Amino acid sequence: MPGQSVLQTYRWQVESRLDALLPPSDEPPANLHAAMRYAVLGGGKRLRPLLAMASALAVGSPADSGLDVGCAAELVHCFSLIHDDLPAIDDDDLRRSRPTVHKKFNEAIAVLAGDALFALAFATLGHAGDPDRIARCLSSLSQATGGRGLVGGEVMDVEAEGGPVDIALLETIHSRKTGALISSSCEMGGIAGGGDEMECRTLALFGRELGLAFQIVDDILNETSSSEVLGKAAGTDRDKGKLTYPAAVGLEASKSEAEKALDRALGHLCQLEGETTVLEEIARACVVRDS
Ligand code: IPE
Ligand code: IPE
Ligand code: MG
Ligand code: MG
Repeated sequence: MPGQSVLQTYRWQVESRLDALLPPSDEPPANLHAAMRYAVLGGGKRLRPLLAMASALAVGSPADSGLDVGCAAELVHCFSLIHDDLPAIDDDDLRRSRPTVHKKFNEAIAVLAGDALFALAFATLGHAGDPDRIARCLSSLSQATGGRGLVGGEVMDVEAEGGPVDIALLETIHSRKTGALISSSCEMGGIAGGGDEMECRTLALFGRELGLAFQIVDDILNETSSSEVLGKAAGTDRDKGKLTYPAAVGLEASKSEAEKALDRALGHLCQLEGETTVLEEIARACVVRDS
């Protein structure tokens, strides 16, 4: 087992790189830049960059070769959280144990800070390696983010509110709104680390299953945990009539679905010849977690 210290070292690298990538908060328009920094810095598990770094390792390269592509994924993630919390979507006031961006600033700034983070994510990819790897990462991240990925999943999530239970739809929503970006983080880490097509495909499949497991656990925690522990509002999915695993199949079956998805994810790792223990540790922590 790699131990917490390896992941902690990766996390410090991520914090420092994100800080350097973001515009200074006194650069005009200062409110926009302050909101971008507020949304990105000072919280979050940094799952996506950690996966990208561990994926680079899994194809035989130093973990830091996955740092910039991982930060690009984290910037997309932070944009998605700002917009997900807006009154028009989930209408949440608490995120990462602090007021959401539209509460701290205002809705206009929240929408626009999300837009600017989205642009910064792709600008970050633009200098993340040689042109061939950049092109492959751009394709991966744009597909994961757009209408067939995260944004499409968010639309389906909102449209399914209050609707009938439909397991196939639920799995599609989770795979898109959460699985696609987690999958792309792994795939881009492999690409940035010089992995071949097969290795990168394997990492993408691993991430897809892990993303599903991760979102099922997010659903479970929304039902079973508290706002204090989560740093975001608990119990809200049921109130909003969200289509979630606990609502569809109950808590026990949800836990078993998350375990099954984790097992399927881990099953892909034996195809890789590099160091996969860090990826495995991160994956297990996605399912056994408090927040
Ligand atoms: C929350 O993601 C939104 C989902 C996709 C479930 P995380 O649980 O990774 O959020 P942070 O980055 O740690 O705040
Ligand atoms: C978040 O889904 C997915 C994205 C932000 C794309 P949720 O709405 O279920 O996540 P939380 O619970 O607000 O973090
Ligand atoms: Mg949502
Ligand atoms: Mg939400």
